[in-house]
Amino acid sequence: MSNKSHQPMWKEEGSAPSFPALKETAFADTVIVGGGITGIVSAYLLTKAGKKVVLLESTKLVNGTTGHTTAKVTSQHNLIYDQLIQTIGEQQARLYYEANQEALQWVRRVIQENKIDCDWEDETAFVYTNADKETETVKNEAESYKQLGIAGSLTDTMPWKTPFKEAVSMEGQGQFHPLKFLSPLIQYITENGGEIYESTVAKDIEKGDRQTVITKDGAKAIGDHIVIASHFPFYDDGFYFAKMHAQRSYVIAIKPKTAFPGGMYITAETPTRSVRSARLHGEEVLLIGGEGHKTGKKQGTEENYQALINFAEKEFGIEQLLHSWSAQDLVTLDNIPYIGRLRKDENIYVATGFKKWGMTSSIVSALLLSDLILNKQNRYAELFSPERFTADPSIRNFVKQNSDVAGTFIKGKLDRLFREQEALPPNKGVVINWEGKRAGAFKEEDGTVHIVDTTCTHLGCECEWNEAERTWDCPCHGSRFAVTGEVVEGPAIEPLRKIGRD
Ligand code: FES
Repeated sequence: MSNKSHQPMWKEEGSAPSFPALKETAFADTVIVGGGITGIVSAYLLTKAGKKVVLLESTKLVNGTTGHTTAKVTSQHNLIYDQLIQTIGEQQARLYYEANQEALQWVRRVIQENKIDCDWEDETAFVYTNADKETETVKNEAESYKQLGIAGSLTDTMPWKTPFKEAVSMEGQGQFHPLKFLSPLIQYITENGGEIYESTVAKDIEKGDRQTVITKDGAKAIGDHIVIASHFPFYDDGFYFAKMHAQRSYVIAIKPKTAFPGGMYITAETPTRSVRSARLHGEEVLLIGGEGHKTGKKQGTEENYQALINFAEKEFGIEQLLHSWSAQDLVTLDNIPYIGRLRKDENIYVATGFKKWGMTSSIVSALLLSDLILNKQNRYAELFSPERFTADPSIRNFVKQNSDVAGTFIKGKLDRLFREQEALPPNKGVVINWEGKRAGAFKEEDGTVHIVDTTCTHLGCECEWNEAERTWDCPCHGSRFAVTGEVVEGPAIEPLRKIGRD
């Protein structure tokens, strides 16, 4: 039943056009780094405001997190509002909700005004639990909805008839096909003077009267403003690497045996289960997500897919397993994204740390950053400012996450697995000791062996083998590398060093 490709479903019905790499120097009002939903919508808004944009994407547009989402467009970010009230206060918690609701309404309006056919559906979102320890938290969340004026409540029925102990609903949310939504926006940008470059890896920023993005190949993009929307910021001026950790999660798309009655669902407890319907070639399919874990902290990730398959079989029956893929998300210190100027007096902006809620957070980012660039007031600027620091319970996570990071440097370096190259199992990554150094070996079916130095080229943590994706994953900030060392996912820019014979 398992499918081999691990490719997201969205690409089957939606695609973005191709663009050349930047070879020389490009000029713009704003240079945007990152061709996911944040970068594209920011570029769209600025182009609409009459500004010239240059957008740089390291691989292909919509290839990263945006292409791997479950595409729920919702302000219900699992259980968050009670926690936000406790940590940042009622007023700020309400602002968080309003920012996300505005983002959702913006998406709805753009779809309607431009008649974008992107399978948009209005849905009610539910967080439900079957864990005794979460029933109180779900009830508290429902109380926080009352306090903040959120349309939703504790409920004893859900359209999907699965057993649950408590559930909280949020009305008026939605779901869509992200690539179909973004295609007309990309077209608008290029038809109105915007320039898009793919296969263009941003490497550094040179500050001056104007800001310059330097690419890995030595090309330049010069603008008055730079937006860093590259998932993990490629430019580390704000020390984001110390403030976020990467999480991987998994999605399967199935054709169910039973009809689905609608609604978007997520469990309060872990392992998470997320369910929504979607359409593929006109037929209803279900997207089942969950099984999140810190990147590089788990090796047998094929088990994660199997757990989702087992769940889907039990709940809906699987007529056909269509797709399976995994996504990577970044989590900030206080669970609120970093969106805004890197430093007060500089025109360099960042948007990152959306957790699993990138569809609304990206639009919040694009609306906020375009306002800042256009010198307009935005009442959410302070809430999301990357410079904030709010002492809240997640400070414990901060210490833990970072001691994990520190531990990885040490443990990885001390790891000693003596194995002979000839004894390597085929199609499996193995950590070996190669001339006294930790290395990663992968043997192809035909016997070809690839050996790479597992030291991540970002900041030197040790990568671990990811069985399901067949990549070397870095637990520190989520870089991923092919068995031959090439970068599959940043923030790393340089490949893993190849050693031994190829
Ligand atoms: Fe930062 Fe590997 S991703 S050290």
